Amino acid sequence: MSWAIELNHLKKQYKNAWAPALDGLSIRVKEKSITGLLGPNGAGKTTSINIICGLLQADEGTVQIFGNPISNTSSNIGHRIGVVPQQIALFGNLSAWENYQYIGTLYGLPNHQVKERATYLLERLGLIKHADKRVNRFSGGMKRRANIIASLLHNPELLILDEPTAGVDVQSRAMIHTFLHEYHQSGKTILYTSHHLDEAEELCEEVIILDEGKLIAHGSPAALIEATSGAAKLEDVFLSYTGRTVRD
Ligand SMILES: Nc1ncnc2c1ncn2[C@@H]1O[C@H](COP(=O)(O)OP(=O)(O)O)[C@@H](O)[C@H]1O
Ligand SMILES: [Mg+2]
Repeated sequence: MSWAIELNHLKKQYKNAWAPALDGLSIRVKEKSITGLLGPNGAGKTTSINIICGLLQADEGTVQIFGNPISNTSSNIGHRIGVVPQQIALFGNLSAWENYQYIGTLYGLPNHQVKERATYLLERLGLIKHADKRVNRFSGGMKRRANIIASLLHNPELLILDEPTAGVDVQSRAMIHTFLHEYHQSGKTILYTSHHLDEAEELCEEVIILDEGKLIAHGSPAALIEATSGAAKLEDVFLSYTGRTVRD
């Protein structure tokens, strides 16, 4: 089995936090899978993603991406990964086009390649008519779609998304959902966090459930449903593992 991502015994304690955000977390993401990272608020999903992307350092434990330790700066795997943060990471005063040209320069991509790739993605995600508009004028769902495109200009093998469908309109959500399905079908690995369990059940081959910085369950939605008594859908599995207490 080849792993796209391997986290081994990660620990992370934020200063002034009353409990560790990650408490010995070990997870594996299969190469070419579409995997959902699920868990209640505060479970450690964003912390895990930030460590995988190298934005945050773990106190203990190791991270390997495509078999390369991320501490190994010579491994140079950044160009194989695309990361979509939950917050919009675009310049509001620039048009979508101008944003992509700028980002393409940061990645060192040739202009014609950025143009070709951005055109394809803007069409696929329903934004081609709006490419010359300033991002500030986009609706929430449009900004979210535009943000996803920004992470795909270099056609990464591994796409990591933090809550790509949180708080977006139904049409944008459906479009993002279809796009992720197709991107996965084209042979890419996707790891994404979501609050929408129905969506994760439909889209994901594997789901990983975290709570309080620990791994709670990992498997295909069907296998987890099968193994949980009385469960008819992924939401039942989730509630059975994480309880019904509301998290802040
Ligand atoms: N910068 C920070 N400083 C202190 N505590 C933090 C910080 N970021 C996250 N936390 C805490 O770490 C835990 C995990 O947070 P996070 O990874 O954001 O969870 P999730 O994305 O699953 O909601 C939570 O208890 C959260 O309050
Ligand atoms: Mg989060």
